[in-house]
Amino acid sequence: MTSFVSYECRDGLAIVTIDNPPVNALSHVVRAGLIDAVHAVEEDAAVRAVVLRCAGRTFVAGADIRELGQPPQAPILPEVIEAIEGARVPWIAAIHGTALGGGLELALGCHVRIADPGTKLGLPEVSLGTIPGAGGTVRLSRLVPIADAVELVTSGKPIDADRALKIGLVDRIAEGDLLEAAEALARELLTHPMPAPLVDRPCPDAETVDWNSTATALARKARGAQAPLEALEAVRESISLSGRDALRKERERFLRLVASEEAAALRYAFFSERNAGKSLAAIKAEPADLSHVGVVGGGTMGAGIAVALLLSGTAVSLLERDEATVAAARQRVLETLQASAARGAITLTQADDALERLTATHDYVSLSACPLVIEAVFEDVDVKKQVFAQLDAVMPPEAVLATNTSYLDVDALAETTADPARVLGLHFFAPAHVMKLLEIVRGKRTIDRALATGSALAKRLKKIAVVSGVCHGFIGNRILAAYRRDCEFMLLEGALPAQIDSAMKAFGFPMGIFAVQDLSGLDIAWAQRRAARATRDRSQPYCHISDRLCELGRLGRKATKGWYDYSTGEPQTDPAVTRIIEDERVRTASTVRGFSDGEIIRRIIRVMQQEGEALLAEGIAESAADIDVVMVSGYGFPRHRGGPMYMSGSKALQAADAP
Ligand code: NAI
Repeated sequence: MTSFVSYECRDGLAIVTIDNPPVNALSHVVRAGLIDAVHAVEEDAAVRAVVLRCAGRTFVAGADIRELGQPPQAPILPEVIEAIEGARVPWIAAIHGTALGGGLELALGCHVRIADPGTKLGLPEVSLGTIPGAGGTVRLSRLVPIADAVELVTSGKPIDADRALKIGLVDRIAEGDLLEAAEALARELLTHPMPAPLVDRPCPDAETVDWNSTATALARKARGAQAPLEALEAVRESISLSGRDALRKERERFLRLVASEEAAALRYAFFSERNAGKSLAAIKAEPADLSHVGVVGGGTMGAGIAVALLLSGTAVSLLERDEATVAAARQRVLETLQASAARGAITLTQADDALERLTATHDYVSLSACPLVIEAVFEDVDVKKQVFAQLDAVMPPEAVLATNTSYLDVDALAETTADPARVLGLHFFAPAHVMKLLEIVRGKRTIDRALATGSALAKRLKKIAVVSGVCHGFIGNRILAAYRRDCEFMLLEGALPAQIDSAMKAFGFPMGIFAVQDLSGLDIAWAQRRAARATRDRSQPYCHISDRLCELGRLGRKATKGWYDYSTGEPQTDPAVTRIIEDERVRTASTVRGFSDGEIIRRIIRVMQQEGEALLAEGIAESAADIDVVMVSGYGFPRHRGGPMYMSGSKALQAADAP
């Protein structure tokens, strides 16, 4: 046995302990140690039952990510699990923390499962473009109702211990000490016949699932990703075969998927997220204390940022302009919390507790106790400068000041304060309490302490931080602006909004660029274009279509008309918009031609890549992988395609022809 797996026997009960910090990943050494443990148990006639447990904070949380995508080294996990399942005496999995992927498959190989009340169990393989490859689909579908097996395997989302007990995934929830409870359960088992291995149990009734409609719904949700559909197929196939045949088929499918482009792209996305904002990790400076944070502006973003902070346990002072806007901001926070509770994302108690930590005010002095203040007022440079001047007057010198601006010059804002070094950008995404991305904008003079504070905030809010330098739109909005502009040129050249949107959706974006603009409103970009009119470089091409729509009051969904007509609720192509586009084509003497969907996507990706290359050359983005993280987690770029920078190179662009 290795030092990663230990074995002790007392009173006929063997305790096998996996100890591979931090998360007891199923590395090669652990698999080898488990096989040795099985042999030791089989040879020890005194052993009548085995408890399999893990040291530290969790049961096996999954595969060893360092081995992801590498050729498997024997003993492979299916061998380990089959050895346990075929053992002479019952094995009891004692689960705490998380049992994910291979960890849950290992527990399914045991004959009985007992879990701590706080345990989470799941099979997240689809998020890495694969399916369980060590019997997960086969054993799960022979243990729990088939619809639950389908849900677990195709969604990849973990469930809690209560639900696991309800569906039969675990046999018991431990009251008190887990090991003691597992030992007690093991002794009870000694008086019963040995439970049959799951692989030998009868198949459930496949008729309880409507396979076709499940596949249709899944395909819609998967947006072009294949793994969830493969996972569904694996479950369906598993119950149509004997357990042993199903195991073989599942493994074949797993190996095929592990080698797929989709899995490679998803592994890349996974590692890119883990490595995002790399420079932040090297910062030695102490971050500001985040137990109390100020937020200025309680509109869409300010309220969302406040909710994210409150739910992380931070006390928030939310500042608005006057009594009426203070009340409105408090109401917005309350409604956001209530909506989260109604969705089941948080409990009502968590919502109440969060609200207790909120102070809404219009008095700047009450912000002075906050080591960090985040400004989220109107996107207007004069309003923001005024806010920074007021903050400067009341905040102690060590406080860190942040702006959530989308496009404005963070350096220029910083220069309006007495100490620009303590100013940085913290660019959240809407809705701020849901979206995982945070662009940390490093100003020319921003000190490490301010950056360390941004980094600590991201950790506290469980967000992915990417560092951006200062430029118009930072990483994400700059790329968005570039490809949005190019899409408008495509309209002049012969495409229509609905065609571009449909090509983007077929590629895997949740929405097309024109529908997105309608959703967020066309007026902000219009105001920016008007503000920049005097300084616009007239030698550069300019597309007037969007301006024409705005001049007609077509500001998007909120005006019931934008690029589409929403008067029936659903977006409809509007002949009036087509006419505006056609008029502009004539006015600009554009040469009109047809576009294929593949061509539209290739062009969009190429513009993203060109802008990405420029961001790298200018030192705005730290790495191509960071740019991909921004596009995937902030702008709907399909994760299973890795990101625009990942797709550079001919092979990837051919893949873009897919739709
Ligand atoms: P909003 O219009 O919903 O909210 C702005 C809030 O600021 C209003 O409640 C207003 O009363 C308050 N305000 C204005 N002047 C103030 C002052 N002097 N003192 C205190 N409060 C003041 O705007 P939204 O969408 O929340 O945007 C806020 C900032 O966040 C902008 O800089 C915007 O560019 C940025 N942003 C917006 C995103 C979005 O999707 N809406 C995404 C990321 C950033």
